[in-house]
Amino acid sequence: MGELLYAAKVAHMPSIYAGEKGVYEPMEGMHEEFRQGMRKMGKKMEDLGVETILIVDTHWINTVNFHINAAERHKALYTSDEQPHVLHDYAYDYPGDKGLAVTIAETATAKGAITHAHELKSLHLHYGALVPLRYLNADGKFRVVPLGANVNATHEENFEYGRIIAETIIEFDRRVAFIASGALSHKFWSNDKVMAHRWEVSSEFNRQVDLRVCELLERGHHREVLSMIPVYREACAGETGMADFSMLYGLLGGGGYDLPAVPFAEYCGAAGNGQVLYEFPVPVAVAS
Ligand SMILES: [Fe+2]
Repeated sequence: MGELLYAAKVAHMPSIYAGEKGVYEPMEGMHEEFRQGMRKMGKKMEDLGVETILIVDTHWINTVNFHINAAERHKALYTSDEQPHVLHDYAYDYPGDKGLAVTIAETATAKGAITHAHELKSLHLHYGALVPLRYLNADGKFRVVPLGANVNATHEENFEYGRIIAETIIEFDRRVAFIASGALSHKFWSNDKVMAHRWEVSSEFNRQVDLRVCELLERGHHREVLSMIPVYREACAGETGMADFSMLYGLLGGGGYDLPAVPFAEYCGAAGNGQVLYEFPVPVAVAS
């Protein structure tokens, strides 16, 4: 019998990687707290005995159905077509988990959430997964299963998909961490403003809503956050419809989930978007 052992919502902006020494001089030193925080999360996952990381990559944007990468191995050289000056020629190599990926796809499809599992040599990871994995899975010991985010899926569909994933994990013989990789509010600065305001959130409305949501998360008031998502994702341009966030709540039991989320970095802006790093403690009912 498998277990969900760890869950988190993480940031993935390229400036986390570019902040490392020697990567991209204009951003050197940025976001050390996010790098350290994700390294700590990786250590916790190791201590818990996690075998596989399921990571929702909100940059793997799907438009029809759900998709899951079932490759036996994820290995390639990556350049971001969005910000190649910051993130380019990045080599990665992680073991996959075909058995778990295919089982999730089959189970979800049988339950009405049409899901395709792919083993395609040219289907690569995006920086929504690669940046967090650099720190969460620094030595590549964890298997990795990337999940796409359907930009046209409703909150309810994503939530149900997450619920099905939780059920599948328990039935499958694997110890799993679920990582939701996406911003909160996600409204980029216009190009003429981004260089002057790079590290600020692009609207005070978005910043205030994000901060209130952080407060609710840290108090364990998830029922309120969950009920906000359908409006939140529209009003504050949540990243890829906040698919990762909805799925995360599906895994954790929805409105009945009440454990306070634990911040591993302070809320901040990047290119206009609201970024967070939270551990979501796994309730016993989901873990066993
Ligand atoms: Fe992003």
